[in-house]
Amino acid sequence: MQAEAGSPLRGPILVTGATGQVGGQLVETLAPLGEVIAPGRAQLDLASAESIRSVIRAVRPRWIVNPAAYTAVDKAESEPKLAYAINAEAVGVLSEEARKIGAAVIHFSTDYVFDGKGSSPYVETDVAAPTSVYGASKLAGERALAESGASHMIFRTSWVYGAKGKNFLLTILKLAREKETLRVVADQHGAPTWSRDLAEMTAHVIRRCEDASGQHREKLPEAVASLGGIYHAAGSGETTWYEFAREAVLLQQRREPGKQFAELLLISTAEYPTPARRPANSRLDCSKLQERLGWRMMDWRESLQKVLTEF
Ligand SMILES: NC(=O)c1ccc[n+]([C@@H]2O[C@H](COP(=O)([O-])OP(=O)(O)OC[C@H]3O[C@@H](n4cnc5c(N)ncnc54)[C@H](OP(=O)(O)O)[C@@H]3O)[C@@H](O)[C@H]2O)c1
Repeated sequence: MQAEAGSPLRGPILVTGATGQVGGQLVETLAPLGEVIAPGRAQLDLASAESIRSVIRAVRPRWIVNPAAYTAVDKAESEPKLAYAINAEAVGVLSEEARKIGAAVIHFSTDYVFDGKGSSPYVETDVAAPTSVYGASKLAGERALAESGASHMIFRTSWVYGAKGKNFLLTILKLAREKETLRVVADQHGAPTWSRDLAEMTAHVIRRCEDASGQHREKLPEAVASLGGIYHAAGSGETTWYEFAREAVLLQQRREPGKQFAELLLISTAEYPTPARRPANSRLDCSKLQERLGWRMMDWRESLQKVLTEF
């Protein structure tokens, strides 16, 4: 339902990080829900508390949707201060402002809050124990939001990809066209998540909360609080980076029969050392999302086929 001027559900939706994979999709997908305001970094710099405060006070959104983040996982190891400023401190400021004006917050977090030592998919109540600066800074952001008193939802996702933006799929397809062989890690287990599916899930959740509020802005924080908390929201199914790459290259090869693609070689994490340690088990159990919010994330194989048709 669209919030028209003068309707009880007033106030726009503020989306951060619109130049990113998830933010870009959110701006498109949330448009039917009413006015969406998506300031660029020049207007809203998450490294500046003053900038966050002045934008939120000027916009007075009913929702703040925050996919913006410091996402350079390896670089974060040498830039912890900046990673924490954007992934944790900014979330605290944004949430404090949200609470003051009665806005609800939707925030995105990551599978990297877990150490990956578990042998089954993680549920929301499992103990978080990040192994990287990025993961630790995202966990600190979750906690800052939870402690702020703002009504909120946190969606932890994994391996985000789509037809646009910087992501594993686009990198693999580019390299597979350029090289004869490609070495891909085969001992990290997780699920690729389509940025559009995440955005559609978010729109569904916003609608659901607004319905629960009886379409009243004043009742929205309470409605969100009653459904809120942490949810796991990753693509259905599971795979490894190697299997994901193999499936993508195979499907693309079928679409371009005359084209030569690289042969994929399976390697271990130990053979591909990176500054940040990544969890071996990144699998997220998303049953809470399905049971409480009525959304089943798309199977990664199905979304991969759809994404490839968008090139
Ligand atoms: N990508 C993944 O595989 C993955 C996996 C798990 C969880 N997540 C989480 O999902 C969310 C969305 O990720 P994504 O893949 O869409 O990220 P992304 O494509 O890297 O986009 C990040 C966005 O954050 C913005 N940003 C960074 N620093 C900023 C600052 N100081 N002020 C304002 N904006 C700033 C960027 O703006 P600029 O264009 O100006 O840099 C960009 O729009 C993030 O919270 C991430 O932690 C992602």
